Amino acid sequence: MAKVFITTPIPDAGPQALRDAGHEVTVGEGNSISSRTELLAALANYDAVMTMLTDQIDAAAIAHAGPSLKIIANYAVGYDNIDAAAAAARGIAVTNTPDVLTSAVAEHTVALLAALARRIVEADRFTREGHYHGWQPLLLLGTELAGKTLGIVGVGRIGRDVARRTKHGFGMSVAYHDLAPNPDFTQEFSAQYYDTIEKLLPVVDAVTLHVPLLPTTRHLLNAARLQLMRPTALVINTARGPVIDEAALVKALQHKTIAGAALDVFEHEPNLSTGLAELPNVIVTPHIASATIETRRGMATLAAKNIIAVLAGQPPLNPVRQ
Ligand code: DGY
Repeated sequence: MAKVFITTPIPDAGPQALRDAGHEVTVGEGNSISSRTELLAALANYDAVMTMLTDQIDAAAIAHAGPSLKIIANYAVGYDNIDAAAAAARGIAVTNTPDVLTSAVAEHTVALLAALARRIVEADRFTREGHYHGWQPLLLLGTELAGKTLGIVGVGRIGRDVARRTKHGFGMSVAYHDLAPNPDFTQEFSAQYYDTIEKLLPVVDAVTLHVPLLPTTRHLLNAARLQLMRPTALVINTARGPVIDEAALVKALQHKTIAGAALDVFEHEPNLSTGLAELPNVIVTPHIASATIETRRGMATLAAKNIIAVLAGQPPLNPVRQ
């Protein structure tokens, strides 16, 4: 029987699968003041640790790993919170939870895009606050998505699913930027590829980001690039907060050099940059793009399966790139 530590409560399907495989499971409280201490103790004393994207497993934390630690299974598809190279150097597997959250994140992205374009949150607030005194032709005019162009930065699983939903659901055209053209994607969505983000941004009505957080993607959307966007353009981010220079975004929104932004992730999460929450043309959600009952259960099961495989001496199902 191996000892598994899960840093934060997750749907029971995960712990149950681990117990069914004969392992002893301890679940931490997560997000508590003692969580770093608790995390370091878990890395030192357990055979497997399931971490959340809020757990910082940097090189210093990896240095605390005990001789029995075989796997760190991240309960997320993104793993910028883990120093995977430091873990590999210690022979510790690192895994993530791809695929199971693709639909949920794509749905949330599309929901944010539609809500922003049609001013749903603003209109809800307006109505609740008692400002609705009768139908008017010019009341809360939004912008239609049909016939507009969505720019997708990063056409991995989630970017592709967003393309499918927006092209076939809303009748949008798709343009994209990635490190290289993707012939399948180009063909399936009759999409236009741009080899630089500078070329993509001026020609789109909305841009949505689907890249991992890496040194090369930090502040991918910075002040200079925001300046290239149309004054009517919208920005959607369900990837990682630091991919956008949030202070520059606030300025662009305040000066109306772009029309709006919908963010599920923040540069200094959970804090919002000064001025962001005051802007009417902004929608903010608390990093819930993958927060559906189905997906959170799927993530729990997949993270558990990775642990079960590695503890049985098998290769992990979802090893991350280092
Ligand atoms: C992840 O799993 O990396 C996502 O941020 C969840 O929304």
